[in-house]
Amino acid sequence: MNAPTDLQKFLAAQEKKSLLRFLTCGSVDDGKSTLIGRLLYDTKLLFEDTLASLEKDSKKFGTDGDNIDFALLVDGLEAEREQGITIDVAYRFFATDKRKFIVADTPGHEQYTRNMATGASNSDLAVILIDARKGVLTQTRRHAYIASLLGIRHIVLAVNKIDLMDYSQEVFDAIVSDFHQFSARLNFASQVAIPISARFGVNVIEKSKVTPWYTGPALLSHLEVVDVDTALADTAFRLPVQWVNRPDLDFRGFSGTIAGGRIKPGAAVAVAKSGRTSKVTRIVTMDGDLEEAVAGDAVTLTLADEVDISRGDVLSDPGARPTVSDQFAAHLLWMADEELLPGRQYLLKLGTATVPAQVSALKHKIDVNTLDSHAAKTLALNEVGYANFSLAQPLAFDAYRDNRDTGGFILIDRFTNATVGAGMIDFSLMRATNVHWQALDVNKDARAALKGQRPVVLWFTGLSGSGKSTIANLVEKALAAEGKHTYLLDGDNVRHGLNRDLGFTDADRVENIRRVGEAARLFVDAGLIVLTAFISPFRSERRMARELVGEGEFLEVFVDTPIEICMRRDPKGLYEKAKAGKIKNFTGIDSPYEAPERADITLKTVESSPEDQAQGIVKYLRDKGYLG
Ligand code: ADX
Repeated sequence: MNAPTDLQKFLAAQEKKSLLRFLTCGSVDDGKSTLIGRLLYDTKLLFEDTLASLEKDSKKFGTDGDNIDFALLVDGLEAEREQGITIDVAYRFFATDKRKFIVADTPGHEQYTRNMATGASNSDLAVILIDARKGVLTQTRRHAYIASLLGIRHIVLAVNKIDLMDYSQEVFDAIVSDFHQFSARLNFASQVAIPISARFGVNVIEKSKVTPWYTGPALLSHLEVVDVDTALADTAFRLPVQWVNRPDLDFRGFSGTIAGGRIKPGAAVAVAKSGRTSKVTRIVTMDGDLEEAVAGDAVTLTLADEVDISRGDVLSDPGARPTVSDQFAAHLLWMADEELLPGRQYLLKLGTATVPAQVSALKHKIDVNTLDSHAAKTLALNEVGYANFSLAQPLAFDAYRDNRDTGGFILIDRFTNATVGAGMIDFSLMRATNVHWQALDVNKDARAALKGQRPVVLWFTGLSGSGKSTIANLVEKALAAEGKHTYLLDGDNVRHGLNRDLGFTDADRVENIRRVGEAARLFVDAGLIVLTAFISPFRSERRMARELVGEGEFLEVFVDTPIEICMRRDPKGLYEKAKAGKIKNFTGIDSPYEAPERADITLKTVESSPEDQAQGIVKYLRDKGYLG
């Protein structure tokens, strides 16, 4: 396939066939590799090795197969690699006379659940492999549940190694009925069970005589005809804008990949967030203008009017707009070794938009064996939960069941940049939309002016016993003596009231600091100089507290006392107890402390007295103009 004409012929022929994307779930032991190998080799149309060059060629030659899926797949993978996920999903391409196929081959063990989710999110069907000797396992149930969660509506239950069970119909029937009992609650549109032997090719490509009792189709025949009804082109029009293409003053286009529906020049579109509408004038592609473009096409649209649109906006059908909200409920598959911390800020990436977001309430987690819900405070690796999310800004989205592209998102850790979760939106929570921020006549500036000072948060962080409260108290005293208006939020005190419901797990500490950050923000708004004295062990929440207030309104004060000194001081006798195992999750003993990397002020308490440290801070405030 080195001559362009061959390639073009090949692509033209492939273009006409429908495409089935499917996922295989199961482990090597279940015979998955053997099965895929069989499908690939026995169809004798193997392009696995040429996939990479095919992708390159099709771009270079610019056939109208420019949007062939391989390119998209490769791009998609690259995007995720940037997010730090170790992708272990192999995509393989093969074709028969009737259809072309992309198989997402993912490892089956529990630790690879996230890989499976990656493969599932763009598959139409899942082949779930079962070892006939073992029957339905927890792993089988997990695969089926995650497939359903990720929007796969068609299932093939491939009961493999039936040869080792003497091609027994009883064994097959028992497994199928066992599986159906479980899967009935998952609402698949089609479920077909096939007894196979990947090793001997039984019922894989063709029906075999060794299972005369089996009346259904062979696996490949079924895959060739199953109607997966993925008419994404028939859903409402969506174009998440990837970038605004403005090469010169005469041209302004909005580029992206159509995530739903179809579009023609002359059609009206609405910008989901602002509600502004206009008409499409041109659909521009590398190969010239199009008369129509559909879901999956990468295009640039030009509009009749000057409309304010930027990356992250969604151009949509004015008659069927996406929801715009900053709160929604979603299923969440947790993919990180560190547990989910509700209240912590993560980055939420949905389509082309990325915004800070947090889980505002974890409703429950789901047991994949029983599908039962259990109360939970956190999610561990590979666990699935249902949660309310709160976003820093409103986004345009659909329910995942309506559109997997505009209803699915990933969560990214703000420090490591790793993908930590995948979410599927269920519905919007309109609460925030109905509660509007009140513009008050007396504002922060007015309140601060009355007090003759610039409001600021002095955020003391450090180990227990490092001297935070002592120094903060002295600073407050000195400021009060100068007639300044202050408020000191102290860990031990706040934990007696506002935060009396919180303990010392990571999740509780995150919530502790989130509330204190919000309280500090309100006091800054009141025009006060706020001092907070909390261990606040995590960088992530200290950063969140900083971002809650304006530029120059947050000073991180690192009370840098080595743990040996804190232990020696041990003012409350807590280190003693922690070492004896009487207090769990004690910071510095069996719970982490992440020291600031760039504190605004660092205090070495072994080098000078608390009084001197406090005077230093007051001087700093005066020099920087906070004291009026
Ligand atoms: S934080 O980690 O959530 O910021 P915070 O500053 O509110 O902690 O509370 C810390 C204080 O609670 C300590 O100074 C100590 O007096 C007390 N304490 C009780 N148990 C623990 C614990 N397991 N870890 C740390 N501090 C504890």
